[in-house]
Amino acid sequence: MQDETTPTPVPTLFTWEFAADPYPTYAWLRENAPVHRTALPSGVDAWLVTRYADARQALADQRLSKNPVHHSESAHGKGKVGIPGERSANLMTHLLNIDPPDHTRLRRLVSKAFTPGRVAEFAPRVQELTDRLIDDFCEKGSADLIHEFAFPLPIYAICDLLGVPSEDQDDFRDWAGMMIRHGGGPRGGVARAVKKMRTYLAELIHRKRENPGEDLISGLIRASDHGEHLTENEAAAMAFILLFAGFETTVNLIGNGLHALLRNPEQRERLQLALAEGDESLLATGVEELLRFDGPVELATWRFAKQELTIGGQRIAEGDPVLVVLAAADRDPERFAEPDTLDLSRADNQHLGYGHGIHYCLGAPLARLEGRTALATLLRRLPDLRLAVDPEELRWRGGLIMRGLRTLPVEFDPR
Ligand code: HEM
Repeated sequence: MQDETTPTPVPTLFTWEFAADPYPTYAWLRENAPVHRTALPSGVDAWLVTRYADARQALADQRLSKNPVHHSESAHGKGKVGIPGERSANLMTHLLNIDPPDHTRLRRLVSKAFTPGRVAEFAPRVQELTDRLIDDFCEKGSADLIHEFAFPLPIYAICDLLGVPSEDQDDFRDWAGMMIRHGGGPRGGVARAVKKMRTYLAELIHRKRENPGEDLISGLIRASDHGEHLTENEAAAMAFILLFAGFETTVNLIGNGLHALLRNPEQRERLQLALAEGDESLLATGVEELLRFDGPVELATWRFAKQELTIGGQRIAEGDPVLVVLAAADRDPERFAEPDTLDLSRADNQHLGYGHGIHYCLGAPLARLEGRTALATLLRRLPDLRLAVDPEELRWRGGLIMRGLRTLPVEFDPR
């Protein structure tokens, strides 16, 4: 715990060097200031929670609200928390911004449409998309696996699942590109992209209401619970959050995952050997370990203290923002043996990469499917994949919530 009068040698957060490898800083925080108040790049002050036990508890603590109205600065800090552009595009009523009982009602409704069964049926399509993307670059002998693979796969997959017609999917690719390029940077472009997406989704929902199909949007419109349905605005916010929450996260799962495998050749060889023998069990535990080791969501989304409370012995005032640092919690030596070692067969691995509690990732089955398919197919088809640059040259995107690479240049023998 900190004494506010004596300055502590806290490492500098949110610089480019920090983005390249935040883990030593997180280790320092876990040890010295496990619940640490800091100024974020946006100017908002927030508490960072870095120890696993505190993080897990905070994620499930109903005294921490997801609703930005509980932010003490919400009147003048307008627009500084949450997704850029979501206020103006009227997309606020989505799962990550609301508490029970609204959250319970909406989550129950969406869960009726977005079922694990629907995701399982989607497996052949994900395989097809994955192969098509690899076909496009496998003869070149080199590729940027972020732009040519990790980035397009999730956007096409979620568009397909939602029922966005294929001729419109490249618009989504552009809007999503805008969001990912400017994450943490200029907000104007992101806000415009969010607005365009919102307008498109509202129209699509309208059309699907007239002409329902078998897609997820039609499922969301049809879903009912004790006679209750989603309103058109709720359905649009839901479709939007599925896109928003399911896109950059999965890009980073594939990108960070491949990066970790390329930097840990022994583990990667183990996985390739297992896959060659038709054994997929290491793939399943491996994708979980990649999520723990260098997960896509560095900090869980915003929470605000509805009342005064204590986390890890630190008093948090009513209205204070709290950010749970999943990346720090998942490397906590109090919870994980040799936390800085990548062990694809790690068995005791209750990581927080998908969150915990009532906001636990709704898309985890889809993310697992995409992550496993992408990694296994790439390693099978391009077994000699290697980094084309010095690892030091790789640049990480500097967003607050997400952690991911800007580019991942690789080489391989043309196929
Ligand atoms: C929530 C991680 C992929 C949809 C969350 C949360 C995390 C997370 C940490 C909780 C955030 C919090 O409590 O503040 C991930 C990771 C993914 C992934 C690491 C990929 C590897 C997806 C996909 C979808 C999705 C593919 C949907 C298509 C959602 C939704 C929520 C959520 C809707 C909000 C749930 C709620 O508030 O009840 N995700 N996610 N996610 N995720 Fe994911």
